[in-house]
Amino acid sequence: MNDRPLLFFDSGVGGLSVVAPTLELLPTAPVVYAADSAGFPYGTKSEAEIAARVPALLGRLVERYRPRLVVIACNTASTIALAHVRSALDVPVVGTVPAIKPAAEMSKTRVIGVLGTEATVRQPYVDDLAARFAADCTVLRYGSARLVELAEGALAGFAPPTEDVATELAGLLNQPGGERIDVVVNACTHFPLLEADLVAAAPPGISFVDGGPGIARRVAYLTAGQDWPGQASAHRLVFTRLGDREQRIAGFLATRGFAEPELL
Ligand code: DGL
Repeated sequence: MNDRPLLFFDSGVGGLSVVAPTLELLPTAPVVYAADSAGFPYGTKSEAEIAARVPALLGRLVERYRPRLVVIACNTASTIALAHVRSALDVPVVGTVPAIKPAAEMSKTRVIGVLGTEATVRQPYVDDLAARFAADCTVLRYGSARLVELAEGALAGFAPPTEDVATELAGLLNQPGGERIDVVVNACTHFPLLEADLVAAAPPGISFVDGGPGIARRVAYLTAGQDWPGQASAHRLVFTRLGDREQRIAGFLATRGFAEPELL
């Protein structure tokens, strides 16, 4: 049992922003990181496509890697398909959903920004989080496919142009009332990978929050009392398509303790 891994799943590299805080709490946890590179990006896909694709892929991944727990490290997939995945799998599944609750706890101006993919920001799941946890806040939303591309490119070795990051952030902050936003939810797991660029592009006084640390605590809680290996081993990296971009990303991740990429 003790070498059964945690399986993290995303369309691309975004889920690494959830792996990092999890490994801070569980440093010897074996990780399988699976990126649906053949289906990337998810944010511009329809609900029906995501709802069909994600449970099927996770079914194959669970069969192959026998994880003790699955983390859907993707807000788009979680806000659309979490319930389908849970009913299709017989392992615990943790989803990643926009961190509206911590943002509402932090906001002084009571105006919060939600920066996600186009698919995430239109989900009823987000309306529900806003109604439950930020009922007294104005919640402004913006969906950005470009930031997802930039984050993916950054891990493949292409630095994101500052003006592109600023333009995307302006899509959120330049909405009516947007000048009062004091907390931005990074509601796409790719975006914390660009946090330094986002902070540099934002006016002073704006804080960014994401779900990563909360997911890490949830994983630690759900696996409390379980055995882990005595020392860290190489993490496994799985793609659904292995092209140039994936090879570049794998090359970078090899410096972060990941083994040679595998194809699902
Ligand atoms: N990282 C994903 C998310 O959290 C999806 C990015 C994409 O594929 O568009 O929403």
